[in-house]
Amino acid sequence: MCGIVGILGKHEVAPQLVEALRRLEYRGYDSAGIATVNQGRLGRRRAVGKLVNLSDLLVHDPLAGKSGIGHTRWATHGAATVANAHPHQAGRVAVVHNGIIENFRELRQDLTAAGYGFESETDTETVANLLRSHLDRGLDPVDATRETLGRLHGAFALCFLFEGEEDLMIAARKGSPLAIGHGTGEMFVGSDAIALAPLTDRITYLEEGDWAVLTRAGVTIRDAAGRLANRAVTQIALDAARVEKAGYRHFMAKEIAEQPVVLADALREAGRDGTLSLAADLDFRDVDRLTLVACGTAYYACVVAKYWFEQVARLPVDVDIASEFRYRDPPLSPKSWAIFVSQSGETADTLAALRHAREQVARIVAVVNVPTSSIAREADAVLPIRAGVEVGVASTKAFTCQLATLLLMALKAGQDRGVLTAEQVAAHRADLAALPGLMNHALRLAEPIALLAEDLAEAQDILFLGRGAMYPLALEGALKLKEISYIHAEGYASGELKHGPIALIDARVPVIVMAPRDALFEKTVSNMQEVMARHGKVLLISDARGVAEAGAGCWRCLTLPEVPDLLAPILYAIPAQLLAYHTAVAKGTDVDQPRNLAKSVTVE
Ligand code: F6R
Repeated sequence: MCGIVGILGKHEVAPQLVEALRRLEYRGYDSAGIATVNQGRLGRRRAVGKLVNLSDLLVHDPLAGKSGIGHTRWATHGAATVANAHPHQAGRVAVVHNGIIENFRELRQDLTAAGYGFESETDTETVANLLRSHLDRGLDPVDATRETLGRLHGAFALCFLFEGEEDLMIAARKGSPLAIGHGTGEMFVGSDAIALAPLTDRITYLEEGDWAVLTRAGVTIRDAAGRLANRAVTQIALDAARVEKAGYRHFMAKEIAEQPVVLADALREAGRDGTLSLAADLDFRDVDRLTLVACGTAYYACVVAKYWFEQVARLPVDVDIASEFRYRDPPLSPKSWAIFVSQSGETADTLAALRHAREQVARIVAVVNVPTSSIAREADAVLPIRAGVEVGVASTKAFTCQLATLLLMALKAGQDRGVLTAEQVAAHRADLAALPGLMNHALRLAEPIALLAEDLAEAQDILFLGRGAMYPLALEGALKLKEISYIHAEGYASGELKHGPIALIDARVPVIVMAPRDALFEKTVSNMQEVMARHGKVLLISDARGVAEAGAGCWRCLTLPEVPDLLAPILYAIPAQLLAYHTAVAKGTDVDQPRNLAKSVTVE
């Protein structure tokens, strides 16, 4: 987590740093800060909370300088206070950091014993002090940085600025991504290319262990062994305008609403270049098993995909939460593929899981939204989900685009393995092409959902139930609701209810049942009746037939269009997202930047 930026510019950098941080705020918003060198002197401004607090501070107390670094923080070591906010400064060096320095306690002890003082509780200040200690020994900034990096354990992206050096910045990457931006007579550093989009589209990605010495004239990159490294400069196509709210009150509202268009575009694009038709080079004939690994919402997309792969391709699938996968160290078949699903492509646990699987499976596949991300770059094959930039911390359009991509993979697997005929695949693909239209219908539920959300906002606990591939949708609905409305919510497989959770049911606990009128409908309705018999307050989400058959006695019903069984999880994601969104709006929480969260989780 945390976003970092650095600029060796031609103009005053404070406004540029703040603008770049605005684009990185999705990585954390516990505090923000910048440091510049002006007439040889280092200066800093830092503020707790959102970036707007730093902007306000800069209005009253501006910071001059044409070289600077900036940071937006997701707290790991130490509370969200000004003292713990980055940049940290020790003597002649200021630093911003994303990641965790695992050996900071030991380093801090050594430095304290050597007489260096600390103002914060952070691991990052240790890095600043360590570098300072090397400068104090008479090393120049480059040698002092080399020595410092050699002592650090853990994951980090770092960017240093030095007093007395207006044309020098040093950046280093180990475990956390870092991009170098090339300007004309200017150079930039950013956690990702999105941060640098308004400044430059010419980007070099540092590789694991690289560190870079920047001046306005260019950059020298060394690898972990200290050898000069030649890293490519790539031209990045980033549509800066897509990071705007386009008249919506929140990014999340915009991102929910744009799903039909995004999905239709993604399907069209995929048809054009063959990626989603997978004619390319994904051949499932010799694959004996799949392992799907991800975190959070992306994990739930994988759980849905397990139902699909097993059903339409008869291919066994294991699904793992990335943070569990590598420590569990499951035996993997050398004929299996491991598929890593991640919106950002930077999630630390998912990336670590990918590296863990690397030598054990036949193929590593990445399903990502950011094709330039670390996970994409380390995979053997990349399937872009093409959701466009997702800004709201709660994942919405990325989820439905992940599902669509995984479904197309499952269909390809079904065909390759002889389970589906070409005609059956074509029929499913035609259904998929009609899905954006059904999603448009589903979005019309926004109004009734906004009304009933007023009631949901009063609840302490909410349960979501689903059966079959709607079970992971119940999990996703609960995750979405709790992360942005802060209401406790749980998702359960409907059949599990009477094995424990039914004890929670009373008239105050809304139970949201996601049940298209499919082969499992009757079974889910029986579970729903068990809830109603205990005065549970049921909200049934189904199609017209389902509502007609089972809506009587429910607290509320929401009617979706009928949808082919296979596609139901994609369509039913929309009411789940709208319920979370409108409940959060009714409660007045910070929808796009819910407390304690960050969009991209780059620490373990
Ligand atoms: C929830 C949410 C998170 C992410 C998770 C993985 O709405 O957004 O649970 O899904 O942090 O992130 P990515 O997909 O970037 O790996």
